[in-house]
Amino acid sequence: MRHFLKETDFKAEELPTLFSLAHDLKTDRGRSQRPLEYESWGLLFFKKSTRTRVSFQVGVYELGGNPVLLTAEDMQLTRGESVADTARVLSRYLHGLVVRCYGHDVIEEFSNYAHIPVVNALTDYLHPCQIYSDLLTLAERWSPGNPNPQSLKGRKLVFLGDTACNMANSWILGGALTGMEIVLAGPTEFRPGTRIDEELKLAGLSNNYVFTDDPYAAVRGADVVYTDVWVSMGMEAEKSARLEKMRPYSVTAELMAQARPDACFMHCLPAHAGEEVTQAVLDSKASIIFDEAENRLHMQKAILAMLKKFQA
Ligand code: CP
Ligand code: NVA
Repeated sequence: MRHFLKETDFKAEELPTLFSLAHDLKTDRGRSQRPLEYESWGLLFFKKSTRTRVSFQVGVYELGGNPVLLTAEDMQLTRGESVADTARVLSRYLHGLVVRCYGHDVIEEFSNYAHIPVVNALTDYLHPCQIYSDLLTLAERWSPGNPNPQSLKGRKLVFLGDTACNMANSWILGGALTGMEIVLAGPTEFRPGTRIDEELKLAGLSNNYVFTDDPYAAVRGADVVYTDVWVSMGMEAEKSARLEKMRPYSVTAELMAQARPDACFMHCLPAHAGEEVTQAVLDSKASIIFDEAENRLHMQKAILAMLKKFQA
């Protein structure tokens, strides 16, 4: 059974097919392709969501399937039923399961016990659907009309702020998979952990990223400047300390001026204007935040369609 828990669950050589499928699905909103006809897919959320929840719900529907929205707190899960039993029971009703949860070990447990494909809709460790959608957005920019992962090779993406968060980890994996140069800039105590280095090794990918605590040096010559919230879901108790330590990594117009003149700004959203990025940068011509948000829908549909194809 193929699951999609991390970026490296697709091989680099499968990406051209995935990108071109996402492009086709985007072009006609999938009206000619209904691979999930007569299927029901569960969308299980332990955390809040706007983009992921709605894009998966619309996406499953557009692929001909029936999205079943599940909130963990309304299930027996939060009254002590195990993940293993929940996964086995849901597998008797559903054809696939999309999960957003805290610990990555929880989604791994779902995938170990489920008899249906499991898709990661964000864990504390990784957010692979976001990264794949972002990679598509960049490929559209650099190979218009026929988005090709080859066009990402050698491009420099700088991720600023919380460089130990799920998005930073996911950029390390997504960048390694596509040959991008990844630079992470943040406070030293938030540098990426060794777990992600192990992950790269496990996937046979070479270490393609560097870490620095100097935001201005990092951004010089960047093709893409990327940031994420400084207080991820579940980290609320550390809020004031994080805001203080990450302040120097805020993406401002002055910082953007260090990047290439044609550089773009990206953010997975939700954004906290005035913290990790200024409103002026969010609204600037360089900002492609809503294109990347839209591509969540098209890329996720392609991911579900590919997982379905692997089952055939
Ligand atoms: N970017 C993202 O995953 O947004 P949501 O938390 O709104 O789903
Ligand atoms: N790092 C953020 C991403 C939100 C899409 C979080 O986990 O809250």
